[in-house]
Amino acid sequence: MQYRLRPATHADRDTLKLLIERSARKLGAGDYRPEQIEGALQGAFGVDTQLIDDGTYFVVEIAGKIVGCGGWSRRRTLFGGDRHAERDAGELDPRTDAARIRAFFVDPDHARRGIGRALLERCESEARARGFTRMELMGTLSGVRLYQALGYAPGEAVHYPVAPGVTIEFVRMRKA
Ligand SMILES: CC(C)(COP(=O)(O)OP(=O)(O)OC[C@H]1O[C@@H](n2cnc3c(N)ncnc32)[C@H](O)[C@@H]1OP(=O)(O)O)[C@@H](O)C(=O)NCCC(=O)NCCS
Repeated sequence: MQYRLRPATHADRDTLKLLIERSARKLGAGDYRPEQIEGALQGAFGVDTQLIDDGTYFVVEIAGKIVGCGGWSRRRTLFGGDRHAERDAGELDPRTDAARIRAFFVDPDHARRGIGRALLERCESEARARGFTRMELMGTLSGVRLYQALGYAPGEAVHYPVAPGVTIEFVRMRKA
């Protein structure tokens, strides 16, 4: 597969929003009810502009079209887009903290072709280069399958509220 992996820019944001919606609606449909996905798209799933500013969010392009995105972070926020309420831009300490893996979404037409894996390997190697020895993330149920394949261990399940009376199940995952 001929693809290009590059840092995301502000100009990508509208495209990424559409990609994230398509990815979550289609690839999340086997694990979640539509109201859970729509609720999550209000904040839990989305682009975090801070990562673009930090240069730690990436896109994968095939023939000039963005078909996947994902990033890592040296900041405390564990998950969520710009509209997510619980955000903390405080910097993590690589000596004591785990870097975050954030917001992986692949175009449903390009799923299971190694794009998620390529993004994750890039994020891990950049985090390692910044001195981090551990990674942590809040995964969706479809994310768990990717992350487990790359050595992440599932921890506790979290039922996160995304709309009145609606929660979505996420799983905390860690890798040393
Ligand atoms: C999770 C996601 C990013 C994976 O992306 P992807 O590009 O399809 O993953 P890859 O092709 O790189 O998969 C790498 C490995 O992970 C595992 N894997 C990934 N998706 C899987 C699935 N649906 N079922 C079983 N194993 C899976 C496999 O071991 C796979 O290797 P293989 O294809 O050689 O068997 C994608 O399914 C997605 O966008 N899901 C919807 C959005 C979402 O929930 N994102 C996670 C946010 S935490």
